[in-house]
Amino acid sequence: MNRIHIVSNRLPVNINIENDIIELIPSVGGLATGMRSVYKEYNGKWIGWPGLPSDDLDEELTGRIEQKLIEEDCVPVHLSKQEIDLYYDGFSNRTIWPLFHYFAQFIDYDHELWDAFVSVNQKFADKALETLEEGDTIWIHDYQLLLVPEMIKSKKPDVTVGFFLHIPFPSFEVFRILPWRKELIQGMLGADLIGFHTFDYQRHFCSSVRRLMGYEISFNQIHIEDRIILVDSFPMGIDYNKFRDASTQIFQRPLQEKSELHRELEKYFLISPNRKLILSIDRMDYSKGIPNRLRAFSRFLEDYPEFIGKVTLIMLAVPSRGTVEQYINLKREVDELVGTVNGKFGSINYTPVWYFYRSLPFENLIELYSSCDVALVTPVRDGMNLVAKEYVASRTNSTGVIILSEMAGVAKEMGEAIIINPNNTKEIADAINQALIMPLDEQRERMSFLQDRIKRYDVFKWSSEFVKSLKKVEKIQNSFY
Ligand code: UDP
Ligand code: G6P
Repeated sequence: MNRIHIVSNRLPVNINIENDIIELIPSVGGLATGMRSVYKEYNGKWIGWPGLPSDDLDEELTGRIEQKLIEEDCVPVHLSKQEIDLYYDGFSNRTIWPLFHYFAQFIDYDHELWDAFVSVNQKFADKALETLEEGDTIWIHDYQLLLVPEMIKSKKPDVTVGFFLHIPFPSFEVFRILPWRKELIQGMLGADLIGFHTFDYQRHFCSSVRRLMGYEISFNQIHIEDRIILVDSFPMGIDYNKFRDASTQIFQRPLQEKSELHRELEKYFLISPNRKLILSIDRMDYSKGIPNRLRAFSRFLEDYPEFIGKVTLIMLAVPSRGTVEQYINLKREVDELVGTVNGKFGSINYTPVWYFYRSLPFENLIELYSSCDVALVTPVRDGMNLVAKEYVASRTNSTGVIILSEMAGVAKEMGEAIIINPNNTKEIADAINQALIMPLDEQRERMSFLQDRIKRYDVFKWSSEFVKSLKKVEKIQNSFY
């Protein structure tokens, strides 16, 4: 098969330099964890930013970084502090991210950010063009690189270009707010295949194409002069067996091989065999509804006081985009809320919320997924939410309950979860009670359906379906000429 190169803002690994030693740290986020499992199958390179500013790197260090990355088939696009500020923190995360997640009040409409977005997208496109060889295909990912498809297509019309958006595409009435809306659509339409997590995002995109550009769309094909562009939905899956196998193995390890977290959890269950654990895992992001979740947990302890002292919420919030104002404010709000709940309901031997503001290694995530009775996933908007799928895959005994926001793309595939509106505090509080008292038989029945589905459409199936559609559109284009 021909090579497929991946292009995304962030590489699957970030570079960390300490005492002149270069370390590769796995990147956090659905795009990185999902694609990491599949990209080597396509024999291409992964082109992206290694996560640090290039200003302080001398030639020798840059060379060593590139060498280290190439061993992982990664090609770096270096960004200066100014580019990170204006393109990454700026247009990507202060303009597009809030717009596409329906946080219109947070949008920064600044021409300087837009200009940087155009020039950094060009930088990524140039690196991809440099890497391309005859017959190669390009698969571009996510909202930071919306202009790259067109930038590649205009230079190399014969290259097949795929694009996948990992976040929601908003309804036209929201999208139209943006001064650069046409330019973004034009950029995306450089791709031959455009993929979304759900049919709704696809529908919103097509409606924006029709209303802003006036192009003809029949079924899922957009017709532009001499080209046809395919638009489709591909709900991203996870590496199901990796989570299931890791979860199975974790319980078979001898004591001396168990992690500190695992031993602490075991001690906790030994001291309090009837206590229940609720799990929440996200990047610290305002789209994830973390304050709502804490308010709902507080309401739950208020409305169901029989659970005080018997239920703990383990909340892992991974630091993310910490230089953007709204993320700094969110962190402050969450810190305060955790303090309020613990102050109100806690006692000498009971801490209602165990709060971790850091990322954890894979092994610890598995321990959390497999030890917690309930997963509380309450984003106010989320393109997909892979954490929900990872929880399902890690439940090797098929028990456990998921409480899931209807605003997450994954809700479309998880009818057996307890579905809630993330803005309805009372509904979430009641859902927590329902989850905690749910009979084991019912848990197993719901979980088994979820497991069958998530296993069947895993990340390998997801990527192979996308690639199959890329081949299909290649054929359609060829028959068109
Ligand atoms: N994750 C991680 N380290 C952590 C916590 C989470 O690598 O300490 C991963 C988690 O396993 C999941 C991803 O981050 O694969 C989060 O993806 P999701 O789709 O839920 O949300 P996103 O961050 O992409 O918005
Ligand atoms: C989401 C986005 C990804 C992004 C990830 C982590 O999953 O869809 O494109 O990589 O969040 O965010 P960061 O800004 O740290 O790359």
